[in-house]
Parts: sequence; C-alpha cells; structure tokens
Amino acid sequence: MKKTIVYTALFTLACGAGSVAAVQLTVEEQMGRHVYMDKGLSLNGTQSCQTCHHKTAGFADPTNSRDPYNTMVSLGDDGISKGGRNAPTSAYCGFSPTLHQVDGEYFGGMFWDGRKTGEVLGDPLAEQAQGPPLNPIEMNLASAGDAVIRVSESDYANIFTSYFGADFFAVLGDDDTPDGYLDDKVDAAYANIARMVAAYERSPEITAFTSKFDTGTLTAQETRGQGLFKANCSSCHTDTVVGSEPAPLFTNYGYVNVGVPVNDRLLTVPGTVYDGYDLGLGPVVGDTAQNGKFKVPTLRNITMTAPYSHNGYFTTLREMISFMNDRGDLAPEVNQNVTSATGNMGLSKQDIDDIYAFLNTLTDGFTAGR
Ligand code: HEC
Ligand code: HEC
Repeated sequence: MKKTIVYTALFTLACGAGSVAAVQLTVEEQMGRHVYMDKGLSLNGTQSCQTCHHKTAGFADPTNSRDPYNTMVSLGDDGISKGGRNAPTSAYCGFSPTLHQVDGEYFGGMFWDGRKTGEVLGDPLAEQAQGPPLNPIEMNLASAGDAVIRVSESDYANIFTSYFGADFFAVLGDDDTPDGYLDDKVDAAYANIARMVAAYERSPEITAFTSKFDTGTLTAQETRGQGLFKANCSSCHTDTVVGSEPAPLFTNYGYVNVGVPVNDRLLTVPGTVYDGYDLGLGPVVGDTAQNGKFKVPTLRNITMTAPYSHNGYFTTLREMISFMNDRGDLAPEVNQNVTSATGNMGLSKQDIDDIYAFLNTLTDGFTAGR
C-alpha cells in the first residue's frame, strides 16, 4: 500500500536549537503531520500529540520541561487527569524493533514498559499512535470510529481520500469495539491513520539528525566526555549503529531496572494514577523477573527533555548522570532485578561535567560556526 515518494530536505540557515526549517515532507508524512497537530482528535479539542511532544522540548512535554521540579507528568484533555509517567520524546522512536527476547532479555517495543509491542501492525511506533486519542487520561475519544469520523470531518480529509481512495471514510458506523483490532474497516482506517503519524515521526522534521554530534566537530572536553560515555554508558545507551539506524541513537532497546526511586512529589499530585510502585515491563510480559525494568531511552535531544526517568524523579540532567554514577542511599522504587551496571561508577565531578558536555552535542538544530 505504501507508495514511495522521494523527499528532498531543504535546510535553511538555522539560528537556534530545533529551528532548522523547510523540510519537504512526503504525502504520507504530511498526512501524519496534520493528524499529529490536530486538537480536534481530543474530546474537548484541547490537545494534540504536539501538546505533549513539542519541538521546543525535544519532542517531550514542554509543560514539564519548563518546570521539571513541579510538573513531571502530562495533563489530560479533561483538564484533571494525569498519567503516572513522564512523557518521553516522540523523536527517534521509529527504529525500535518489535518486542522480542534474546537470551531471556527483552528488546524493542514502545512506551516505557514496551506495552505497544509492534506485533499487531508490524510497527511499534504506528501501534503507539493508536493509543493516545483513545486514552481516557490523554485525548479521551470514545472509540476508533470516533477518531476516524473526526479525521473525515477535518480540513485535511481530502488528502486521505485522494491517497487511500474515495471510500476511505465510507465505512463509518461499522465500528464495534473501542480499541479492538477486529478485522473491520474502521480499524483498518484507524491503523492507516496511525501509520501516517508514524511516518511523520520518522520524517526529518522530527527525527532530524542535525546535532553537533552528527554534523560538527567535538571540542576536547566533549571528546573526553564521549570516551567516558563509551566506557560507562554505552553498554545500554549504544554509541554505535543498531539495526537500520542511520546513526547511533544511544539505546540498545533493552529493559533494565537502574533503581530509580519512588517520586514522592508525584505521589502528591492531584489526579495522577501514580502509586509509587511502577512495575514497568514485568506485568506487560507476565514475568516477575522483569519487574522494575524500563526501556533504555534514546539520549538524543536529552538536554531539552527534563525531567528525567520514567517517573520524572530527576529534575536536571546532571542529577540523572550523578545517579547513574552513584546511587547513594536512594532506595529503588521496585527493589527487584536492580542492575549492578549502574550506581557505582566512580566518576569524578569533572567526569560528570565532561559527560554532560558530550550529551549536550546530541541536541538537533546545530549549525557549524553558529
Ligand atoms: C497528554 C499528553 C500526551 C499526549 C496528548 C500524547 N502523548 Fe505520547 N506520551 C505521553 C506519555 C506520558 C508517554 C509515556 C507513557 C508510558 O510510557 O507509559 C508517551 C509516550 C509516547 C511515545 C513512546 C516513546 C517511547 O520511547 O516509547 C510516543 C512515540 C508518543 N508518545 C507519541 C505520541 C503521539 C503520536 C501522540 C498523538 C497521537 C501522542 N503521543 C499524544 C504523553 C502524551
Ligand atoms: C545498565 C544499563 C544502563 C547504563 C549502563 C546506563 N543507563 Fe542510562 N538509563 C538506563 C535505563 C533503563 C533508563 C531508564 C530508567 C527508568 O526511567 O527507570 C536510563 C535513563 C537515563 C537517562 C534519562 C533519560 C530520559 O529520557 O529520562 C539519562 C540521561 C541516562 N540514562 C544517561 C546515562 C548516562 C550518562 C550513563 C553513563 C554514565 C548511563 N545512562 C548508563 C539504562 C542504563
């Protein structure tokens, strides 16, 4: 079904982080962009994907990154509900494989806990995009049919019908389950809408590869930090290309319990579902040996996406790196399966500064000579 349309990327002079402009998108990516930006896909019309995954916050939630100590989780469309996890970036997710096991360890999938496995649509990212519109604490629509109706009534509906055919929306009224994967046409249409969103998330407008790491020359300090990173971090945050990645994304797509503590501040936030005991991957795969494990996140644009870790416990990037170095006497949220690969690295304050300097080179929008 996928038509191949070659895109040309026209980069104009950038004058700030993330401001690289004028990327020309394929038809698929353009459809996805419309959906990604469409507040009409939330019940009260207050939010789109972009609300919680905005360029100004490295495609994480800008409300959180503006005030990472006090706001660690996203507000839903109802204006009350809050999730129990910090919104990760929606960029650079398109290379995660379908959730699978290698020697008893899990890799791939989407979300902090891998629950969008990719097995249904053959693409974890497209499967993920089917979630938020129907999630009661996010965009809160009643059903896939409701979402498809809203796309059919949008001002970009004609792009879908000219691409997929005039009968793309003709199936409405046929939906029988809110979020099921029954083999009916509404679900097929909803899946195709999600595939377009995934195409946009993979496009150079979001997955840009325009950081100093990609296009510039590192300073002596950044290079020293890169060496320390290779020695201490790259066993999980892989610094070489994995699978079909065009350049390193700094994740092995694995799951680890690094011992992130209970976020007491989050426990007192009204409306949140957080209970201070997030088991992560364990319940998703039905195996207590995986309890407490969360997906190794990409570190691209990491300086922009505060706060850090699945529950947003760490307000600054320096605090997060320091915790990886030395867990101190912080008790883990889930005291099972805690790795010994982090928490006792013996890094000096200078080492941490150097690693920070290296991570700072992973921010997109870098232009040489700026
Ligand atoms: C109300 C805020 C909110 C909205 C709206 C929202 N998201 Fe998210 N997003 C989150 C949170 C929070 C998570 C993490 C949840 C988890 O892991 O359990 C997340 C996770 C993701 C991930 C997974 C990243 C990873 O590394 O696993 C992607 C991709 C993503 N969102 C894309 C989207 C898209 C596409 C839309 C619109 C269809 C959207 N989001 C709408 C808050 C939001
Ligand atoms: C043994 C595997 C492993 C090693 C080694 C490791 N990390 Fe991580 N890292 C993870 C996992 C897993 C998470 C997510 C943990 C969570 O939220 O529960 C994470 C989270 C992070 C985050 C937060 C990302 C975000 O989006 O919130 C940063 C920053 C980070 N690591 C940097 C580093 C640095 C720097 C090093 C080396 C000094 C390092 N890590 C070593 C596995 C590892």
